[in-house]
This record gives sequence, C-alpha cells and structure tokens, in this order.
Amino acid sequence: MESMSEKNNFKIKTAVLTISDKGSRGERKDLSGPVIKEMMENIGAKIVYEEIIADEKEDIKEILSRIADQKKADLILTTGGTGFAKRDITPEATLAVIEKEVPGIPEKIRADTLSITPQAALSRARAGIRKQTLIINFPGSPKAARECLEAVIEIIPHGVKILKGEITEHQPGQKNKSF
Ligand code: MTE
Repeated sequence: MESMSEKNNFKIKTAVLTISDKGSRGERKDLSGPVIKEMMENIGAKIVYEEIIADEKEDIKEILSRIADQKKADLILTTGGTGFAKRDITPEATLAVIEKEVPGIPEKIRADTLSITPQAALSRARAGIRKQTLIINFPGSPKAARECLEAVIEIIPHGVKILKGEITEHQPGQKNKSF
C-alpha cells in the first residue's frame, strides 16, 4: 500500500469521541473508546483528544466542527449512538458537519463484518470529510467497535495522507491496469 511518495514519519493525529448518555454521566464505563485508542496507537497514531459526551446533536456537531476547524486532529473516530434507540443521533450530527461523504468506509465495514453478525446492519454509521479531517462513526459496544475498526484500519492511513497532502502521486504500479 505504501508508495515511494508517502512519508513514513507521518503520525495520524487522532481524536476519539465516545458518544453515550450513560458514559457521560459516569453510569457506564467507557470500554469502546479505549479499544479504539489502543488499536490506533498500535499502528503508530497519536491520540490527541479523548472525550465522552452525551447523545446531544448540537454538542456532537460542535465538537466535531471545532476539532476539524482548529486542525486539532487529522482523524476523528466516534463510538456510539449509531443505532435505532430514540437518542441515537451520531450519524445525523456527522452528516450535518461533513463537507464530503465517504460512503466506501461504512460500506467496507458492513461488508466485512456482516459475516460476523447480521446485526452489523443495524448500525447507521457514516463517514466523511470536514476540511482536512476524516470523521468515521463506529458502533458503541467494544466488540462492535473493534470489529468495525479492524475492517478499515489498513486503509485509513493512506486516505488521511492523501487528505493532508502527504501523498501527491501514486506509483505507476498502483494504477488500475484496465484503464
Ligand atoms: N457491528 C459489528 N461488526 N459487530 C456488532 O456486534 N452490533 C450492532 C451494530 N453493529 C455490532 C455491529 C448492534 S447490536 C447495534 S444496535 C448497532 O451496531 C448500533 O450500535 P450503537 O447504537 O451502539 O452505535
């Protein structure tokens, strides 16, 4: 995946946002945020921001926008609030702040994880870009967050590097030979 034009010393500045009413009130221990954090650290990412917030659309929008607009992180990974419960609003808050949607990321997540559980179809998670920050939603359980991040963790660095202008051209061998 790495081409000669990719810089190898680039560390993805990553924000992990746990979205949970109970978690924000201290009534439930946040287990999925730490799972995401550990997986990202294992690929060399730098965690620059962590927070647990309630399922409040305006609060989610405000934090996502602030992190992106102030260039605090290259990547924001949210966990929770993607299902059917009355208060689940993470995908809508995400869609409200992104400028470009990235449908392939949740498509790959669902394609890869539906074989683990058909309930993967119950997450309404989305992904998209605001300025130079990629935002990806993940479901709230630690098991689901791990499975879903595993599906895309290999492709995230390449996407973030292109977004940041760290990769400006592909090696000839990477081009689709049918064109
Ligand atoms: N995706 C994977 N890969 N594995 C899972 O166990 N759980 C599902 C789904 N996605 C699951 C999954 C379930 S049961 C729900 S309700 C939705 O994610 C939404 O979860 P959330 O509301 O906690 O975000």
